[in-house]
Amino acid sequence: MLEDRFGREFHYLRLSITDVCNFRCNYCLPDGYEGRPDEAFLSLDEIRRIASAFAATGTSKIRITGGEPSVRKDLTEIIRTVKSTPGINKVAMTTNGYRLPELIDSWADAGLDALNVSIDSLDPAVFQAITGHSQLQQLLDGLERAVELGIPTIKVNAVMLKGFNDNQLGRFQEWLKHKPITLRFIELMQTGDNAKFFAERHVAGDDVRTQLLNTGWTPTLRGKDAGPAQEFHHPDYMGRVGLIMPYSKDFCATCNRLRVNSTGKLHLCLFSENGLDLRHLLQADSQQEELINFLHTQLADKKVSHFLQDGDSGGTRHLAMLGG
Ligand code: 5AD
Ligand code: SF4
Repeated sequence: MLEDRFGREFHYLRLSITDVCNFRCNYCLPDGYEGRPDEAFLSLDEIRRIASAFAATGTSKIRITGGEPSVRKDLTEIIRTVKSTPGINKVAMTTNGYRLPELIDSWADAGLDALNVSIDSLDPAVFQAITGHSQLQQLLDGLERAVELGIPTIKVNAVMLKGFNDNQLGRFQEWLKHKPITLRFIELMQTGDNAKFFAERHVAGDDVRTQLLNTGWTPTLRGKDAGPAQEFHHPDYMGRVGLIMPYSKDFCATCNRLRVNSTGKLHLCLFSENGLDLRHLLQADSQQEELINFLHTQLADKKVSHFLQDGDSGGTRHLAMLGG
């Protein structure tokens, strides 16, 4: 079991498979992806070795992230490989959804257990203003298909942005009335690249919380393994609402996750200064024991919290670097 000095146990790995993204979300990649075209992202074999080493240390859930995971042609194979790793019982993925209608059937077939789609607005014009992309309807159709296919957990993420979607809570709620979906409002985080945008557009999570309580939503009791979201339910709505407030006190106390970026660096925190290189330990199956030992040793250094409240976002320029 991977455990740190603060008694936190890590059962959950967020694994980024690419930094590339074809969206230009104004809070993340406003000028689009600008990485090196020759960047070597993790291969299928390296991904398989990461999954089995983490499984051997007690990880049971892996989320595939990016950038945008579906820009990789071998994504379905990646899902299948992670899902078939002994010990991994839940494979999740976060996507911007642009290839959802076309690929969701094959992802379901490969064993995808949980899907998060980012939809920052249900208004096509606002969606386009935020993401630079116009296919909102296509994405919503893909989401319907995911529901039809019975993907066990489906969540939609919306980053709250002043002047873009902060007056659309009612519309979002209406949409949830008959949908077995959890909609999570995410408080904008400051990263290295978005300081000015953050200053202009940040909406306090507490304000969203107040609006939810005022419109009849009740906080749901948290399970022991609950993630960072506070969840709410409402008797008139099939869907649920979650609220992610990274600036709230004690946000890090329930941290249960580690991250590996798309080039094989272990990040102990979303906002750590540097990643720890694993790649030299991913080149042969015979290195598994060494890799597992490395993970145990590094966990001893995990910090108690991020320093976001001090405006310190570590080495994280934007979340496409690390998949959120
Ligand atoms: N603050 C909050 N959420 C962000 N995301 C990307 N950048 C930020 C940020 N600066 C969200 C995306 C996606 C998830 C992976 O993280 O919208 O839903
Ligand atoms: Fe792409 Fe996600 Fe960043 Fe938007 S938030 S630009 S979808 S990586």
